[in-house]
Amino acid sequence: MSEIEKRVLGKSGIEVTKIGLGLWAIGGDAWGEVDDRESLDLIDAALDMGINFYDTADVYGEGHSEVLLGRAMKNRRDQFIVATKIGWREFDEAKQTSQYDTVEKLIAGVESNLDRLQTDYVDLIQCHIDFRDPNMEIFVEGFQKLQEQGKVRSYGVSTSDFEYLKAFNADNMTAALQIDYSILNRTPEKDIFPYTIKNDLGVLVRGPLAMGILTGKFTKDSRFEEGDFRQRWHENEDEYRVFLNDLEKVEQLKALTDGRSLAQLAIQFTLQHPAVTLAIPGAKRVSQLEENVQAALLPPLTAEEFALIDSLTPPGGGRKIWPA
Ligand SMILES: NC(=O)c1ccc[n+]([C@@H]2O[C@H](COP(=O)([O-])OP(=O)(O)OC[C@H]3O[C@@H](n4cnc5c(N)ncnc54)[C@H](OP(=O)(O)O)[C@@H]3O)[C@@H](O)[C@H]2O)c1
Repeated sequence: MSEIEKRVLGKSGIEVTKIGLGLWAIGGDAWGEVDDRESLDLIDAALDMGINFYDTADVYGEGHSEVLLGRAMKNRRDQFIVATKIGWREFDEAKQTSQYDTVEKLIAGVESNLDRLQTDYVDLIQCHIDFRDPNMEIFVEGFQKLQEQGKVRSYGVSTSDFEYLKAFNADNMTAALQIDYSILNRTPEKDIFPYTIKNDLGVLVRGPLAMGILTGKFTKDSRFEEGDFRQRWHENEDEYRVFLNDLEKVEQLKALTDGRSLAQLAIQFTLQHPAVTLAIPGAKRVSQLEENVQAALLPPLTAEEFALIDSLTPPGGGRKIWPA
């Protein structure tokens, strides 16, 4: 396989492959059944394909995703760029605030990420809370202390809220933004991407496949297994309507799949925006991963192909996808 292009992740200076691997599904709590042995094989396969970037969080499978990544990294930590997140554990719904109300608690929290990952440092720690909560300053200060201590190499934030992003990055020390972006959700193109370019924030794209919709494998009759949060697309009338609307767009996108799959087209689309550093599609099986990684090696989309995409979802348009 040809080598996957590497790009610098914003102010971190860290070189990352332009395709990474999202590890939410292997936590086992939200995307239907997964098998740990298969998940470890998936990470081995990603490494063999040359992928160096892995995204996880303290809450995926209540830490199980981090534990598995830790196991996979044993005796070869240097081959991995690790991004993880903190914020949602024991979130106080009533007060809408995180449990991390002192810098010491935040630092102890990140130390527990490190314990699960069985490592001394992470390459990118991200604030997982996607709206302004009263503890935002604690996250920023805590992350900067952890950087001084060598426990994190860089820090970032995961949000689609432009005002929050600007507040989080008030001192312009944030290295990266994680954001939902896809053919169905082009909203970041409006204000957020011009801002990240101007302020040198790397951008990690999550949701490039819109949780599988943009692979073209679903129909209006598709059903999701127990424990798969995508069941909500059928349970809620509004969400079902949006799902059907998405499926109509997907049908039209199939005109662009000459020589590539729809999943590859969808990932390529995200990688072509100049603000984007890398995409982190999730995968549950090696076959999905193989297909997704090829997107990094295909020739870019043409202006004509973009014109059809623009006619379906105009630049800056589309819909935010939960959790956005
Ligand atoms: N910061 C946040 O709040 C946040 C939120 C969401 C996600 N994330 C991160 O982003 C990563 C990606 O998650 P996402 O929600 O953005 O999902 P996505 O990448 O849009 O879709 C991933 C899912 O699509 C299916 N899939 C992947 N490749 C496929 C292929 N080639 N053919 C057919 N199906 C395929 C798989 O599920 P099935 O096989 O079950 O369909 C896979 O789990 C997560 O793992 C996580 O690291 C972060």
